[in-house]
Amino acid sequence: PTIFAITPTHTRPLQKAELTRISQTFLLIPNFHWIIVEDAETRTPLVTNLLAQSGLSYTHLNAETPKEWKLLLEDPQWKKPRGVKQRNAALQWLRNHADPRKPAVVFFADDDNTYSLELFEEMRNTKTVSVWPVGLVGNVRFERPILDEHDKVANWSTGWRPERPFAIDMAGFAINLKLLLDNPDAEFSFDAPRGYQESTILGAVVTKENLEPKASKCTKVYVWHTRTENPKLNDVKGKVPGMVVDWTVEV
Ligand code: UGA
Ligand code: MN
Repeated sequence: PTIFAITPTHTRPLQKAELTRISQTFLLIPNFHWIIVEDAETRTPLVTNLLAQSGLSYTHLNAETPKEWKLLLEDPQWKKPRGVKQRNAALQWLRNHADPRKPAVVFFADDDNTYSLELFEEMRNTKTVSVWPVGLVGNVRFERPILDEHDKVANWSTGWRPERPFAIDMAGFAINLKLLLDNPDAEFSFDAPRGYQESTILGAVVTKENLEPKASKCTKVYVWHTRTENPKLNDVKGKVPGMVVDWTVEV
């Protein structure tokens, strides 16, 4: 099966570093197609050029978050959901362009997480929806599905809102493409309560009973919800006397 990884991305000082880091991981994965969706009015030269020289099979889209849902500088970063419009645009592209006869799996790969190659071989043979632990998320060392004596998902071990129908981070699951094609209305929503994006899409395609636990019965961590510290840029702020900001160099 092919792996389609969907990555929302937005312009910021860290963007090229993050995209370089994950794209060079993705290069090592066989049968992989990257759907990268910029949160922007148009596709930017930075991302266009990075993709063109990446060596990856990819689709480059853009879908701008509507004004009322954009995070403002003064907003705490949990206040509004991120990636909603972008992930939906990617799902739309898959529904219009993916060959339904070819087996494939869809994974939501945020641009700032850290991915081990093992993760992709775990998810590749997903029949319905597979799930696995995620490290460094929810203010705990790791979150994971809790399995019952039949190795089915019974519950969630999570740092936050365990009552969610699927109390799992976006990085903790992959969906067989067929389920997304068979359920054309399955998508993300700005109206979902905080922390319910994952439950919104999963609830539309699967029940808890049909989840497939991966990563050695959910005892291994192959993905980390890392978040890179925003760099202080004194030169850009004009705080470094005598230093000229050279915007012709892409960083
Ligand atoms: C957590 C989850 O891991 C995300 O999958 C979820 O979308 C998010 O919360 C949420 O509540 O909406 P977190 O690390 O807080 O993630 O979110 P970010 O990594 O900042 O954003 C998720 C993705 O959306 C990233 O790929 C990021 O580049 C993208 N994004 C972020 C945009 O496209 N536009 C933005 O304005 C901000
Ligand atoms: Mn993140």
